[in-house]
Amino acid sequence: MTSGDLRPGRCVLMRGRGRIGKSALAEEFVSRSGLPSLYFTAARASAEQELRQLLDDVASSDLPHRALFTQTPPANWNSALQLLADAIPDDSPSVLVIDEVPYLMERVDAFEGMLQRAWDRFLSRKPVLLILIGSDLSMMEALNSYDRPFHQRGTEMVIKALNPAELQEMRLTAISVGCRFGVSRRGRMARCARRAGWDVGGGP
Ligand SMILES: Nc1ncnc2c1ncn2[C@@H]1O[C@H](COP(=O)(O)OP(=O)(O)OP(=O)(O)O)[C@@H](O)[C@H]1O
Ligand SMILES: [Mg+2]
Repeated sequence: MTSGDLRPGRCVLMRGRGRIGKSALAEEFVSRSGLPSLYFTAARASAEQELRQLLDDVASSDLPHRALFTQTPPANWNSALQLLADAIPDDSPSVLVIDEVPYLMERVDAFEGMLQRAWDRFLSRKPVLLILIGSDLSMMEALNSYDRPFHQRGTEMVIKALNPAELQEMRLTAISVGCRFGVSRRGRMARCARRAGWDVGGGP
C-alpha cells in the first residue's frame, strides 16, 4: 500500500480443495493482523437468510462503523456491500473475509456484478484487504475469468497440501516455539498479501 494511492484496497481470491485449511488460515491471519475485521461465512441458505446472517456478523464484529448496519439495515445485498465500505475505516487498514463465496454466487442473483460494483466504487477506495474464499475450484476460477464482472479485481491464491519440506519446517517450528499453526502457510499468506501490495511485515 502506498500513500496517495487512490485505490488502496486489495482483494485475494483464495481457493483449495475442501478441508485443506483455508478457513483456519484466514482466521489465523485475521486474528494475528490485529486489524478491525469481519469474517462472514455463507451457508448455502437463501439470499435473505444470508443477508440476515451478514447483519448479525457485522453487528458482532469490531468494524468501527458497524452501527450503520443497525441504524439502517440494508434491504438487499447491493446495499449491504455498499454499506460494508462505509463500516470500515477510511485511513487505516481492515480485513473483510467472505468464506464460501460460491454459495453466494449460486444463491444471490447477480452477486458477482454487485460485488464488482461495490468493489470498484466503494470498497477498493479504502485500505481494505478483501479475502474471498471457496472450495469449489471451478467457480472460484470462474470468478476471475475474463468474461465475468469481477475479472482482474483479485489476486488468486491456491492453497495446496503442505509439501514434505513445509511439513518439516512446521515440525521444527512447532518443536522450537510450541506453535500449533503452520508457519509455511502463514508465510504463504503473507507473501500473497505482499504481492497484492500490502505491507504485512516480515521478509520476502
Ligand atoms: N494448521 C492447522 N493445524 C491444525 N489443524 C488445522 C490446521 N488447519 C486446518 N486445521 C483443521 O483442519 C480441518 C479443516 O480446516 P478448514 O475448515 O480450515 O478447511 P477448509 O479448507 O476451510 O475446508 P472447507 O473447504 O470444507 O471449508 C479443521 O478441522 C481444522 O481445524
Ligand atoms: Mg472453510
